[in-house]
Amino acid sequence: MTHETANRQRIVPAEAAGEGALPPDGVLAGDSVALVRSLPSASVHLILSDIPYGIGAEDWDVLHTNTNSAYLGASPAQAKAGAVFKKRGKPINGWSEADRAIPREYYDWCLTWAPEWLRVLKPGGSALVFAGRRLAHRCVAAMEDSGFSYKDMLAWMRARAPHRAQRLSAVYERRGDAAAARTWDGWRVGNLRPTFEPVLWLTKPYRIGATLADNALIHGVGAYNQEALMQYVSGPENVLDMGFAPKEGGLHPTQKPVRLMQALIELTTQEGQTVLDPFCGSGTTLVAAKALKRRFIGFEADETYVETARKRLRDEG
Ligand SMILES: C[S@@+](CC[C@H](N)C(=O)[O-])C[C@H]1O[C@@H](n2cnc3c(N)ncnc32)[C@H](O)[C@@H]1O
Repeated sequence: MTHETANRQRIVPAEAAGEGALPPDGVLAGDSVALVRSLPSASVHLILSDIPYGIGAEDWDVLHTNTNSAYLGASPAQAKAGAVFKKRGKPINGWSEADRAIPREYYDWCLTWAPEWLRVLKPGGSALVFAGRRLAHRCVAAMEDSGFSYKDMLAWMRARAPHRAQRLSAVYERRGDAAAARTWDGWRVGNLRPTFEPVLWLTKPYRIGATLADNALIHGVGAYNQEALMQYVSGPENVLDMGFAPKEGGLHPTQKPVRLMQALIELTTQEGQTVLDPFCGSGTTLVAAKALKRRFIGFEADETYVETARKRLRDEG
């Protein structure tokens, strides 16, 4: 009997009233928004997901109409490096209406799923969301506007962060403008090395009048397990510095380390509780949840990644 089952025998929460059952552990192929809609209310203890970032035109990241030419094509450096976003092209400069629409379109897209995420989570439950640095604020706003509380932003420090900021002087050299090249020597166009990824931590509010301590007894969530986290990090800080194991990786352009997902699952859930990843890609969240004896449900639109995730659950679980 899990801790939560034991507590449920004492206090019967309103949300327990029959609304169908969760699907069995595993990966379902299809549209995440529709699939989350099919889940019972207040049935999931943790949503842990690396959602599409909305900044590229790759198949796994397309959310909008992509009317902006800045999304298409690839710079010579990107083409050579085989970058994750092969079609990202030149930087978005924010001048055209299409450029300015991208953040709003991302917010609108987040609103298509955020209210359903809130519905399926248990009160006090966490949603831990990897979102791209550039549009993460729109994701937070859409989730807040859907009823979530924004708790914190964690930083995942990643060792392998490609850095492709172009030398400005190289542009002038190609133009034959030696004076400008000298003046702008040392300057770059682009971003600093992206060594951290934000992990947004939002929670579903618990019932008015109840305390978090009451909520933990009823729903089994709401607090965080510092002792469990300390197996993965040197201090209870909101920076998670952990990389890939040898030979891990190469299954998805934005694959995350299993150990990182395990740390986040242990931070917020107990054995026997349910972890949902509505955009599961190659299934890293599910592999981590399975290893930690949690229940796991993943949704993925791309059949190839669905197969990858299923294979991993067979081989690595
Ligand atoms: C950022 S990736 C997740 C990768 C994952 N972290 C891993 O370790 O493999 C997001 C995934 O969401 C999927 N996706 C995008 N839109 C979707 C939708 N509407 N329904 C289901 N999956 C979708 C993409 O195919 C992609 O694999």
